[in-house]
Amino acid sequence: MKYDVKDLKLAGVGRKRIEWADNDMPVLAKIRKDFAKRKPLRGMKMSACLHITAETANLARTLKAGGADVVLCASNPLSTQDDVASSLVRDYKIPVFAIKGENNRVYYEHIKAAVAHKPNITMDDGADLVSTIILKHRELHERILGSMEETTTGVIRLKAMEKDGVLRFPIIAVNDAATKHLFDNRYGTGQSTVDGIIRATDVLIAGKNVVIAGYGWCGKGFAMRAKGMGANVIVTEVDPIKAIEAAMDGMRVMSMKEAAAIGDVFCTLTGDINVINAEHFRRMKDGAIVANSGHFNVEIDIPGLKKIAAKIRKNIRNYVDEYTLKNGRRIFLLADGRLINLSAAEGHPASVMDMSFATQALTTEFCVKNRGKLEAKVYDVPKFVEDRVSTMKLASMGIKIDKLTPRQKKYLSSWKEGT
Ligand code: ADE
Repeated sequence: MKYDVKDLKLAGVGRKRIEWADNDMPVLAKIRKDFAKRKPLRGMKMSACLHITAETANLARTLKAGGADVVLCASNPLSTQDDVASSLVRDYKIPVFAIKGENNRVYYEHIKAAVAHKPNITMDDGADLVSTIILKHRELHERILGSMEETTTGVIRLKAMEKDGVLRFPIIAVNDAATKHLFDNRYGTGQSTVDGIIRATDVLIAGKNVVIAGYGWCGKGFAMRAKGMGANVIVTEVDPIKAIEAAMDGMRVMSMKEAAAIGDVFCTLTGDINVINAEHFRRMKDGAIVANSGHFNVEIDIPGLKKIAAKIRKNIRNYVDEYTLKNGRRIFLLADGRLINLSAAEGHPASVMDMSFATQALTTEFCVKNRGKLEAKVYDVPKFVEDRVSTMKLASMGIKIDKLTPRQKKYLSSWKEGT
């Protein structure tokens, strides 16, 4: 078996982490049991380009239990949990190509290894695997019967491919499922972003001006948690509706130019490029902490920061680089602008990944069942998958909800009854 992980000796610790996460992933565990009996993915070759975490390990175990021949590669150079990657190889016999801190060349070599598996099904978190296959591996286009995408940035890229007419196989936008983004993007990113910033800096959130760029589901989640810890939250937006929403949620809303001068902690969660630029850095206070929790490391203009820095001290503590500007003020950049929640912390907690990855697993089965019937388009997750995942999650939480009575059902489908 070919693989590339940091050190197989780390596997013991990794295995414990995988088992610990599994305790909080009851829906995925149930699906795994069912998959092991039915083998709905039998004969499928799968390549998954995901953050290599304990939660992802439990997804990979589930796909393997379903009969798939799975290979994993990293979807980000800094998010890999090396001990987990080693355990997947040693204990679960799942090939992994991922090493935390790998450079760009190795990152793409690892994607190449996942491509060499010749998958029928792929999974992506950011669309790097699919875009590599679309651009460089025409020979695989015919054989891929479906591809799942986990994140907002990936769905945006894939929709752009569809618009440009270059998509060659069906994509399912797992990110857009309610069972994914309403929980993972909001509560997962919310908590894990706070976690990453605190682990990297040990900063006290209470009383700080925390500037949040972007008020999508991730930005909202982080704003909610920062506010709950006593921060004065400032939101910057380009979308007027989201800006009003932030204002009515009780956040201060202003331009980044204005916020730059008063922020203590900055975090970007927009999916866009150069959201914090050199002009903003020049206005910042001494000691400003700057992080990103969006998918790619482009949201903070790091080349721009490097140009205006008089002095750079790398790694003044783990995940913290100090940039001193010509005006003498210091900026603390976290994790080289890579997603802080997965670089400095452990990503979203297992109990929220449970829903995302249960949605992934059932959507994979849907692709297999519908092979040949789907077109080269970006599809939503089917409603029955969302219903199953949400019903199972609720049951696992011990929560019972009401059911519509026949009278209520009739009322909701009629228009004749008024005042
Ligand atoms: N994305 C965010 N958090 C994650 C986690 N814990 N595992 C995999 N992907 C993630």
